[in-house]
Amino acid sequence: MIYLDNAATTIHKPDCVVEAVAHAMQNLGNCGRGANGGSLSAARVIYQAREAAAALFHLDSPERVCFTCNSTEALNTAILGLIGPEDHVISTDLEHNSVLRPLYHLMKSGTRVSFLQADPSGNVDVSQIEALIRENTKAVICTHASNVTGNLINIQLVGEIARRHGLLFILDASQTAGSFDINMERDHISVLCFTGHKGLMGPQGTGGLCIAKGVDIRPLKMGGTGVQTNLPDQPSQYPIRLEAGTLNSHGIAGLKQAIEYIQETGIAAIHEKEHELMLRFYQGVKNVDGVKVYGDFFGDRAPIVALNIEGYDSGEIGDILWEDFQIAVRSGAHCAPRMHQALGTVEMGAVRFSFGWFNTQEEVDLAVAAIRQIAGENQKTDGETLADQMGLITAYIRSHYRDEITLEEIAGYFGVSREYFSRFFKKQTGVNFIRYVHLLRLEHIHEDILSGNDSIMDIAARHGFHNYKLFTKMFREVYGCGPRDLRKAKEEGTIKQ
Ligand SMILES: Cc1ncc(COP(=O)(O)O)c(C=O)c1O
Repeated sequence: MIYLDNAATTIHKPDCVVEAVAHAMQNLGNCGRGANGGSLSAARVIYQAREAAAALFHLDSPERVCFTCNSTEALNTAILGLIGPEDHVISTDLEHNSVLRPLYHLMKSGTRVSFLQADPSGNVDVSQIEALIRENTKAVICTHASNVTGNLINIQLVGEIARRHGLLFILDASQTAGSFDINMERDHISVLCFTGHKGLMGPQGTGGLCIAKGVDIRPLKMGGTGVQTNLPDQPSQYPIRLEAGTLNSHGIAGLKQAIEYIQETGIAAIHEKEHELMLRFYQGVKNVDGVKVYGDFFGDRAPIVALNIEGYDSGEIGDILWEDFQIAVRSGAHCAPRMHQALGTVEMGAVRFSFGWFNTQEEVDLAVAAIRQIAGENQKTDGETLADQMGLITAYIRSHYRDEITLEEIAGYFGVSREYFSRFFKKQTGVNFIRYVHLLRLEHIHEDILSGNDSIMDIAARHGFHNYKLFTKMFREVYGCGPRDLRKAKEEGTIKQ
C-alpha cells in the first residue's frame, strides 16, 4: 500500500511510539488514583507528556496542558467553555466541522458568528478580521491550515490582531502540529487545540488543549479526578479542571514518545521533507490534461494536494486509486463544507493526497503515474518515455512484489500493451518480468528463512510464491541448495548469514 492519507491519520508511526504504548499497556496503573507503583508510573509519564507538549508549543506551564481524546474534544471544550450566548466570534470558511458544529450549536442560543470568506483558491484575508470586530467580540477561532487544500492561515497576524483588540485566539492546530513551529507566546495564542494521531505521529485517542495564563475554560465534563473528592464541583485548577475520568495513559505515553521523536528529528527537517514531497506531487499532476488542482501553491503550506479529474466523481477516483493501484487517499467533503462551497466542489468533492514523514519520492512518483493513467495521459506513452520511467517501474515492482502482480496490471499502469511491456522489460533488464519478480521475492525470502522460525511454506506464500514446487526449484537454482538445507546450515552454524 502507498499511504497518502496522512491528513486523516498517520499510519506509519515511529517504532519507539509503538514500543512506548506496548510498554505502557503492560506497566501503567491509573494516574492520580493511588500511591502504588503503577499509578505513580502513569502520573510520571503523563506529566512528562505535558512537559513535552508545553515545550513543543512554547507554553510555560505544563500543568496548563490538558489531555483529551482528540482535537474535536479539545475544540468543543475550548469553544463551549469560553463562548456564551451574548458573545460574537470570528471564524473562517476553512474550518473543519469540529469548529463549525460547536459554533452552529452556540448560534442556536444567541451567539453570533462572522465567517471570513475564502476566495476560489481557498484563501482568506485575515487583515479583514479588524473590520468584523464588534463591541461584544470575544474570540477569533480558526485553523492553522485547511485540511482540504493545505492553504495556511497567517496565524502571526491573527494573533497580533487578537492581542491588539483584547480578543481570545483559539487555534485548531490539527493539520500543522508536528511539522510547523507554533509558538503560543509569539503568536499570542490563548488556546491551542491539537490531535495526537496526525502529524504528531502518536496514537489515536490522544489530543489536548494548551491554555495560556489567564484563560479560564468552563469544564465540559465533570467527574472523578482522584483528588479533592469531597468537592461537589469540578476542581478549578488545571489540568484536572478539564480532565474528568481516567486518562488514556497508554495513548499519552505514546504521544510523549512521538513528541520526543519529533523534537529529536527536528520540526524543520520534517516540514522540509513533507513540503518537498507535496510539491513534487503537485508539479507532477498540475499540467495533466483533465486534472484540476485546488488551493494556493505560492509560499508555505501544509503537505496536502486536492484535485479532481474531469469526467469522474472524486469518490470514483479514490476507489480506482485503492483498487487498481493500492494508493490510499481521501475523497469526498473532508468534514469541511464551507471550504468545498468556496472551491465550488460541493457536488463532486475532491480527492485529497496528504504526505507524511515516512513517505518517499518513489511513492509520490507512483501516485503521479496513477493520476496520469486515470486521466488517460499514459495512453500516449512510447518507448522513450517508458525508458525514462524505468526507476518508477522498478519502484512499483519493489512495492508490490508480494502481491499477485501480473504483466497486464503493470503494463496497464504504465499505459502500454502487455506484449510491448514484456519486450521492453526484457530488453532493459535482461530478465523476463515474471522471473524478475520471483528473484526479488527470493531475495527477501532468503532473509526470512535465515532469521525466522515460521514454516518455509508459509514464508514462501507470504512473499507471493503460491506454487511451492516452483519456489523450491528456483531457490535451488539461485542458492545451490534447498531452503531447508539453508536453514539447517544456519542452525548448525555452518553459515553465518
Ligand atoms: C483541521 C482539522 N480540525 C480538526 C480535526 C479533527 O481531528 P480529530 O478527528 O482528531 O478530532 C481535523 C481532522 O481531520 C482537521 O483536519
